[in-house]
Amino acid sequence: MPDDQEVHKGLEGIIVNETKIGYVDGQKGRLVYRGYDIETLASKSNFEEVSYLLINGKLPSREQFSEFNRKARERMKLPGNVVEFIEKNCGHSHPMSDLRTVVSFLGALDANSNSSDLNLQKSMGEDIIFRMPGIVAAIKRKWEGKSIIEPLPDLGMAANFLYMSSGRKPTEEEEKVMDTCLILHADHGSNASTFSSMVTISTLADMYSALTAGIATLKGPLHGGANEQALKMIKRVGSPENAERVIGEMLGKKEKVMGFGHRVYKVYDPRARILKEFARSISAKSGKQELFETAEAIEKAMISKVGGKGIFPNVDFYSGMVYESLGFEENIFTPIFAFSRSAGWVARSLEYVSDNRLFRPRSKYSGEMGPIEYVPLEKR
Ligand SMILES: CC(C)(COP(=O)(O)OP(=O)(O)OC[C@H]1O[C@@H](n2cnc3c(N)ncnc32)[C@H](O)[C@@H]1OP(=O)(O)O)[C@@H](O)C(=O)NCCC(=O)NCCS
Repeated sequence: MPDDQEVHKGLEGIIVNETKIGYVDGQKGRLVYRGYDIETLASKSNFEEVSYLLINGKLPSREQFSEFNRKARERMKLPGNVVEFIEKNCGHSHPMSDLRTVVSFLGALDANSNSSDLNLQKSMGEDIIFRMPGIVAAIKRKWEGKSIIEPLPDLGMAANFLYMSSGRKPTEEEEKVMDTCLILHADHGSNASTFSSMVTISTLADMYSALTAGIATLKGPLHGGANEQALKMIKRVGSPENAERVIGEMLGKKEKVMGFGHRVYKVYDPRARILKEFARSISAKSGKQELFETAEAIEKAMISKVGGKGIFPNVDFYSGMVYESLGFEENIFTPIFAFSRSAGWVARSLEYVSDNRLFRPRSKYSGEMGPIEYVPLEKR
């Protein structure tokens, strides 16, 4: 066995492909989609336009945008068999398990899903993105024991998602906050779930399979599941006065504080900076000011204790609070993340497969070399 094999656990630092979709500068705290700074898109654009940009490389013309929107509005209404599937099968384990299963079910319904034709892959990808608000809202309603609501024809994806989730048309501010959350989470380099989607599409599997893999990977608490855990932790801390002590205890026990730290950002995550301001204003309006103040106290305690190691709030620290203020339970936070990240998964899967190379890394073998003599079962 060669002994010069260097192991890169978690593929850390390994560059696996070239991309024109997005760039994360972890030292400067900069996030770019197709050349546009995240702050510019968050303040001026909307999720539909950002999805188009990520997939197609350029902002749409007015005609292209209206066609994209027309398709989005048409597909937001779920087919009857999908509604029936959600009614019958969801609401038992975790909404992320439901979402993974429903997206996989969409693939089972699509006769094209055995094709690896690029145009079909793109249209499958767009379909999944457009169906996400309806699916996540329906799963949420199922968990609450409420009936599933159809979208309104005059609302965009963010507003319709809020409407289908609650049955109430959102205010302009609520729509803007939701839309911005979707934009901020739409893409983020070769993170675990995006990589997972790319690995799947590299086998020439279909887009439903790639996104099912992405959703499955996003589920874990070290990735998408962190926002749910972060809010639970903020609630456990309870009030700003407890922050210093509880954080000290957690760090003393070498516990990870959810919503902090990042494999790439070693400075403040730019998405967390934007979300923090939304969290501040929306929590004040929804009577959750103390929750925000507790979070801010936790941030202060963390930065004073471990900021020197490059550990700052990440996107998940304040997003949970924003979602809660918008009326979502904790178990729906990661499905919302998946809804927005579907744009990045589709864009990056399409880009990868259009210049494809099957992913096939290797492992360093450190087991027995043998040959060991086989002992039959009856003699063991
Ligand atoms: C995201 C994450 C996995 C990336 O970290 P990473 O680059 O793999 O860094 P490591 O886990 O190797 O940690 C490096 C050091 O920082 C510490 N650290 C990292 N994140 C920490 C956190 N959230 N709380 C406390 N300590 C943390 C580790 O304990 C370790 O300390 P040590 O060197 O004394 O052993 C990690 O920061 C984490 O688990 N964060 C919490 C989960 C989370 O919020 N995930 C969402 C990411 S967007």
